[in-house]
Amino acid sequence: MVKSKKIFQCISCSHETSKWTGKCGECGEWNTVSERIVSKSSKSSITSSIKTPQRISDISGDKAERIPINDLEFNRVIGNGLVKGSVILLGGEPGIGKSTLTLKIALTLKEKVLYISGEESNEQIKLRANRLKFNNDSCYIYNETEVNTILKTCEEVLPRLIIVDSIQTIHTQEIDAIPGSVSQIKHCAEILIKYAKERLIPIIIIGHITKDGAIAGPKVLEHMVDTVLQFEGDKNHLYRLVRSIKNRFGSTNELGIYEMNESGLEEVNSPSKMLISTNQEKLSGIALGCSLEGVRPIMIESQALTSAATYGNPQRSANGIDIKRLNMLLAVIEKRGGMKLSQKDVFLNITGGLKIQDPAIDLSMVCAILSSFFDFYIDHKICFIGEVGLSGEIRPVSRIEQRIKEVTKMGIKIIYLSKYSKVSQVESKNYQLIKVGKLQEIIQQLFK
Ligand code: TYD
Ligand code: MG
Repeated sequence: MVKSKKIFQCISCSHETSKWTGKCGECGEWNTVSERIVSKSSKSSITSSIKTPQRISDISGDKAERIPINDLEFNRVIGNGLVKGSVILLGGEPGIGKSTLTLKIALTLKEKVLYISGEESNEQIKLRANRLKFNNDSCYIYNETEVNTILKTCEEVLPRLIIVDSIQTIHTQEIDAIPGSVSQIKHCAEILIKYAKERLIPIIIIGHITKDGAIAGPKVLEHMVDTVLQFEGDKNHLYRLVRSIKNRFGSTNELGIYEMNESGLEEVNSPSKMLISTNQEKLSGIALGCSLEGVRPIMIESQALTSAATYGNPQRSANGIDIKRLNMLLAVIEKRGGMKLSQKDVFLNITGGLKIQDPAIDLSMVCAILSSFFDFYIDHKICFIGEVGLSGEIRPVSRIEQRIKEVTKMGIKIIYLSKYSKVSQVESKNYQLIKVGKLQEIIQQLFK
């Protein structure tokens, strides 16, 4: 006889209790606890197939066969092709371009693809495909949200790649919870992952994440899947980045860069060129730096504006970097550089809509602010690479030689960097390295 047990589970956070409560004891949500019957047989079915340990030398290692993808940037990020049976989670904010990217992958793959959409109708997807200007006879679109029905269809279609758009819309009747709740997401993903491993078919699962990136949903899947990719960028800007956060079959340092235009996502081969404004006018408040995104050095332009604060407290606004970092740099400029910025409004933008965390662009941001403060134009052929410490010291950054190579390729002739940087090839006819130890030295040399 199949034994069954009654439990109460929160549909929002999956917390289980033996009694019904109005408010979930774990996440504090109201009216989310509902009754569930768990049968012992269904639980044990996962563990029913007993496996025996195998000697590692007896296991064939040639299973990591890869299916190449025709999108160079995506291919590089996942580690050169899709590993059969691997599961990739592609996370990103709504509207960033996840469906566009995965549809492009589906339309350019030379093998049979099943694109499952729970969000858009077949006609909507066809319209998007027309926009992307691709057509592919081996790409099948399927509008379904029930996970077992999906797998049944997969058995008939026998695709070589499955795309699920998105995990938040997929559900199973085995669980009494709304689609998109943590327990549904987890359970459906578990079924899909098991299928991918058994049939050796790679699956790309799309997951929406909210602005702060940490709320429930796809985050709970990160440990279950093989690869986690994050799609980043600003919806109002053209550039999109695909970053690998976890990859069981490749490096996590890779980064793919795209430009969103009217015919979809276009691969960007030379990001530095795209991110630097082509404005040749001699404007103040602009300074160039170099950030390392994954393993790729990218030239970054910082733009700053300082103006007298006329209304009460001075305003500070930052786009593309953490506002706390801007405040810290302003405090260092004020205290170590002796500039009176406390009565100034300060605005700082990283052009292109990228979000930069690399501290190596500190020095360029400081110089952009100083350039605006003194209303002094900094030549387009100068680049600043260095972290700024609290005492105003310019600190060395990682992979300096790689960065120098990139910026000089972009036409930079003078590079300011920390005097503690270890550069083996010091002099070159094509460019000049100026080593500085403190912020005051830069102010003395450049702005006085
Ligand atoms: P979409 O892939 O639907 O985002 P997601 O699946 O992540 O929610 O892409 C949404 C945006 O992309 C949409 O606002 C319009 C824009 N877009 C273009 O600019 N050009 C195009 O060719 C396509 C297909 C979309
Ligand atoms: Mg979408």
